[in-house]
Order: sequence, then C-alpha cells, then structure tokens
Amino acid sequence: MDNELKDIALRLQGIIETAIDGIITIDQKGIVETVNPAAANQFGYDPTEIIGHNIKMLMPDPYHSEHDGYLHRYNTTKEPRIIGIGREVTGKTKEGKLFPFRLAVSEVILNNRVIFTGIIHDLTDIKTAEQNLLNLNEQLEEKIQIRTDELEQAVNRLLATNKEVEDREKKLAVALSKEKELNELKSRFVSMASHEFRTPLSTIMSSASLISKYTKEEHNEKRAKHVNRIKSAVVNLTGILNDFLSLSKIEEGKVEVKKSEVEVEGLCKLVIEEVKGLLKNGQTIQHSIDDEVNSLLTDERILKNVLFNLISNAIKYSKTEGEISCHISKIENGVCFNIKDNGIGIPEEEQKHLFERFFRASNVENIQGTGLGMSIVKRYVELLGGDISFESALGKGTTFTVNIKNLS
Ligand SMILES: Nc1ncnc2c1ncn2[C@@H]1O[C@H](COP(=O)(O)OP(=O)(O)O)[C@@H](O)[C@H]1O
Ligand SMILES: [Mg+2]
Repeated sequence: MDNELKDIALRLQGIIETAIDGIITIDQKGIVETVNPAAANQFGYDPTEIIGHNIKMLMPDPYHSEHDGYLHRYNTTKEPRIIGIGREVTGKTKEGKLFPFRLAVSEVILNNRVIFTGIIHDLTDIKTAEQNLLNLNEQLEEKIQIRTDELEQAVNRLLATNKEVEDREKKLAVALSKEKELNELKSRFVSMASHEFRTPLSTIMSSASLISKYTKEEHNEKRAKHVNRIKSAVVNLTGILNDFLSLSKIEEGKVEVKKSEVEVEGLCKLVIEEVKGLLKNGQTIQHSIDDEVNSLLTDERILKNVLFNLISNAIKYSKTEGEISCHISKIENGVCFNIKDNGIGIPEEEQKHLFERFFRASNVENIQGTGLGMSIVKRYVELLGGDISFESALGKGTTFTVNIKNLS
C-alpha cells in the first residue's frame, strides 16, 4: 500500500514536472507553495525565487494590489470569481514583461487545509496569431479600399470618356444638321438668286444694246436714262450678292465684330450715295442729324450693311415721288437711326414675319427681292448689341428704328 501511494505520488510528480502548462499552488493567504518548471519558465524565475513569496509578485497592477482582497473576499464569502471558472489574465515576468495567459484556478482541500491550484496556459502565441490575423485583415481591407478606389477611378475615367464621345457625337450631329440646313439654304438661295439675277441682267443687256444705238447728241437724255437703269440693276445685283455673302457668313458664325469710331453722318451719306442708283423718278432721299450726336464705337461694315438694306428697301417699296428720310439722333451711350418712307407699307397681319428668312409680303409680288435682307439686318443688329423695331401702315409707309449703343 505504501509502495502504491509512493508510485502514484511519483507519477503525479512526473506529470506536473513535465506539464507544458504552468502549475502553481498557493495557500489561503496567497503564499506560493509549489511551482512546476513550466510555470517558473513562463515567469522567468527560478522556483526558489517564487516559493514562499506572495503569488501577486507574478501579477501586474491592478491585480497585484488587489489580489489580497480577492483572496480575503473568497475566503469569507466563498463566492467564486475565478475559481472553477477560469479566465484570461496578464502575467508579469521577472524582467517586467507582461504576457497573456489563461488561468484556471481550482480549490483543493488537503489535510483540512485549503490550497489553490492555478494552471497557466500561455496565450502569447495565440494572441500574436490573433493580432497578426487582425493586422492582415486590416491590410486586406486597406488593399481592398485601394483597389476599390482604383476601380472607381477607372469607372469614372470610362464614364468621362464615354461622355466625351457622346458630346463629340452630339456636336457632330449638330454640326451635321447645321451643315445640312446651310446647304439647303444655299441651294434655295442659289435657285432664287439665279431667278433674281435674270431681270437685272436682261435690263443691263437691253439698256447696253440701246445705248450703243444712241450715238447722236440729241440722244443724250435717253442714253443717260439707260445708264441709270444699268446702274440700278448693278446695285440690285450687288445687293443680292451681299445678302448671300452675309447670310453664309452669319450662318457659319464667321461674322467678326471689329469696332472702330464710326462717324455716323458720313456713313449715312455714303450709303445714300450708293443707293441713289435705285431711286425712281421723282423719289427723294434726305438725311438729317441732331447736333449733339457723337461718333459711335461699333463695327462700321456691319452698320453700313444694315443701313444699306433699310434704305434700299425704303426706296424699293415706295412709289415714284416717294420721300425717304434718314434721321440720326442721340440716345444714351449710342445713336438712333430712323429710316422712314411713305411707301406701300406692310400688311398688318404679316408684320410678325418680317424678320424671317425668305419672307416677302403679299403686296410685293411685282417687286424683285430675295426676302433675306431683313433677317440679315436683324442678326446684324443683334451682333452689334442693338435693337430694331418698326411701324408700318399699309399704303401709308414704314418707319424703322435702329438703336445702336457703343460697344464696350
Ligand atoms: N420699307 C418697307 N416697306 C414695305 N415693305 C417692306 C419694307 N421693308 C421690307 N418690307 C417687306 O419685307 C419683306 C422682306 O424684306 P427683305 O428681307 O429686305 O427682302 P426683299 O427686299 O429682298 O424682299 C419685303 O419683301 C417686303 O414685303
Ligand atoms: Mg430688301
């Protein structure tokens, strides 16, 4: 029996000595009684440095200072906080290093004496592995974030390119339809112009051949009449050509506004001089200007074209002995032109179409024209930042008012 006990004790001793987990026993006061090699190793002490000392030497604060209290409480209340439960705690080595371990404490009663056994399972490796896993996870998340960002950027780039392509296509479509519209306009114009050219050209032809027959002194008057007819026909042709050129330029957006100081009265006189060839027998044209009118900062060529169109219309759409006038007055920061005739007027219900392309009123059937001049005038006035309006009464006459301000 004695031998058997000895054998068991030895076997237990062997198990404890070779256990991988640390095993420490303490008494009720916390004084260490036994330490197995694994535990000594875990805390970096020689067993002799621990045995006989309070277990709290192996604990960092706050457990270090509170341990006596724990023991006391347990011993009086028997209410377990750790005993028989086990939990994760922190140990402190001789060097002062902290390490995590799982502590399982059990209570043993030996020879009427209570001792506590603590089994210490080092968690350093698990914790490190856990931490590594966490780190890895974090890195992975970062990587995913970066990749997501990159992907998003790529998608955005793709979207932007797509939009560019779409925009380009849209622009192309617009340009194409504009071009188509322009081509239609041009062909419409060409067919109309070739028709409109016929009359002045045949006038020129017949007047020229008549002139060649009027060789005598007494034919002077007739010759002069035909020279005037030719002049008028040429002005007409020039007008049509100008309309065509202006229209193409406007439609192609190629009209450049070049400002300069324009002496408006001089310009008005110049235009009147140019349209004189159109005057019918008995028609008069005159201009007047208020004293305080200054020069105008604007595009001279465009303004001239506007005045030319308005004055030539006034002549064209007035009977013989009609009176045409161009009055120039001052407005705030600009000049106002009033071009007045007492001609055929524009039917009231058609007036709203006046600035439309190819519009020709129903009362002008026998008078040549393209129906383009007013649409060009309107666009030109807008280009100069001005405005145009008119008043007209059928059979009584028409007055156009053009306000042009100094360009800034
Ligand atoms: N001073 C005017 N008096 C009467 N009608 C006018 C006058 N100016 C323009 N119109 C009307 O507006 C139309 C368009 O004028 P416009 O665009 O210059 O073309 P066009 O003179 O070649 O017919 C004319 O055909 C005419 O019916
Ligand atoms: Mg006209």
